[in-house]
Amino acid sequence: MQSVLSPRDAANLVEPERVHRRLYTDPEIFNLEMRHIFHKAWNFVGHESQVREPGDFFTTTIAGQPVVMVRQPDQSIQVLYNRCGHRGAIVVAEKSGKARNFNCLYHGWVFGTDGTLLFVPLEEGYECSSFDKCDPQYGMRKVPAVANHQGFIFARLTADGMSLDEFLGDIRQPLDHLVDLSPEGSLTVTGGHFRTVYPCNWKIYLENLHDGVHARFVHQSSVYASRKFATEAEKTNSLVPFSVEIVKANGQSYSALDNLDVRAFPNGHSDMRGFRKPIGDDPVFVRYAEQLAARHGAEQAQEILGRNWHNMCVYPNLSIHPGFLQLRVLTPLAVDQTMVEIWNLKLDGAPEELHHRTITYANTVHSPSSIIKPDDLEAYKRVQRGLVSEGSDWVSNHRRYGTDNQEDQADSALSEHFIRNQYKAWTGYMRQGSEG
Ligand code: FES
Ligand SMILES: [Fe+2]
Repeated sequence: MQSVLSPRDAANLVEPERVHRRLYTDPEIFNLEMRHIFHKAWNFVGHESQVREPGDFFTTTIAGQPVVMVRQPDQSIQVLYNRCGHRGAIVVAEKSGKARNFNCLYHGWVFGTDGTLLFVPLEEGYECSSFDKCDPQYGMRKVPAVANHQGFIFARLTADGMSLDEFLGDIRQPLDHLVDLSPEGSLTVTGGHFRTVYPCNWKIYLENLHDGVHARFVHQSSVYASRKFATEAEKTNSLVPFSVEIVKANGQSYSALDNLDVRAFPNGHSDMRGFRKPIGDDPVFVRYAEQLAARHGAEQAQEILGRNWHNMCVYPNLSIHPGFLQLRVLTPLAVDQTMVEIWNLKLDGAPEELHHRTITYANTVHSPSSIIKPDDLEAYKRVQRGLVSEGSDWVSNHRRYGTDNQEDQADSALSEHFIRNQYKAWTGYMRQGSEG
């Protein structure tokens, strides 16, 4: 059905410091976002370690369309539309695995891992002038643009557009930093993952990423409990467990939050720095620092360890937590439904105990059954429920408006600049769509 709302109409619903509530509730806007944002942006698909050997595959979606990322015999990585050239069934139903060929369940067509149609049962029945088995439209076609930045695989559903390098711009720095952190210069996605479907619009998740203010309210109960635990531990000179420390960190004062660096970059990207306290003489960390010095030299290792990135957003579908080595991939399912999948990264060659901390962080803070994430989820749910109200048409992004810093200059975790920056990208995509 033809959309009545044009991308230009949609762009007009955004003002520099406030946006219309329809952006979160109107299915027509959601369809425009799929067509003009997710279809045209570079989307994060997966990490190269998820498809290490030829035939290894990993499935996901881009702009609602099923795709499969697959390692080729020549070690290159391709992303194919996960659609059978016969009657259109998805061919690869598993999340990940290994295959010699891809076989369609429905009528048995067989495709190579590069998408070429190899075998058609009853092929003699197709001997008509309009069917050519070698025509790529009967195979699994390649998506038009795929690029690899330091092992992070991105794809775009349009052939034309800026390069991945240009799209990422300075947000490449925290991605590169992750690789620098590894004593072997490489990363591995490990174990299983958390998958949560949020009853809210996708933008609500991204707007919470560097929002320092919410933590002291939304996470009040767990901060209170962790402080109490830590005080008791200190009284008896016992060690405060790592899991308690990370929960307690949500209770920072406004002035501490004001000292965090939040930077906004072109194309909607952003990052936050300055969260971590110095590690001191933690023996695991000391061992890790030595390994890093063996690779980079002592001076550069110290520089790398001092960078202190906390989290980041590659707009519109990826958030990474370099501090605790966590990948969060966002998939909008409907105007009021969003899937977030969380994967853990391992620094190849680093002490195993460091990886255990990554897992502890994921379980304590980001698991659906943790004592932190369900708090955020409740807030997102309330925003989504409240926005159907006709009480007001506007969502405020005013905090610290008028003092926004530009690239390379930091705002703080008390500013909503990073949200205004996301909407600058959002309207950019819509305006571009109205020209096409
Ligand atoms: S739909 Fe795939 S073989 Fe028929
Ligand atoms: Fe939170």
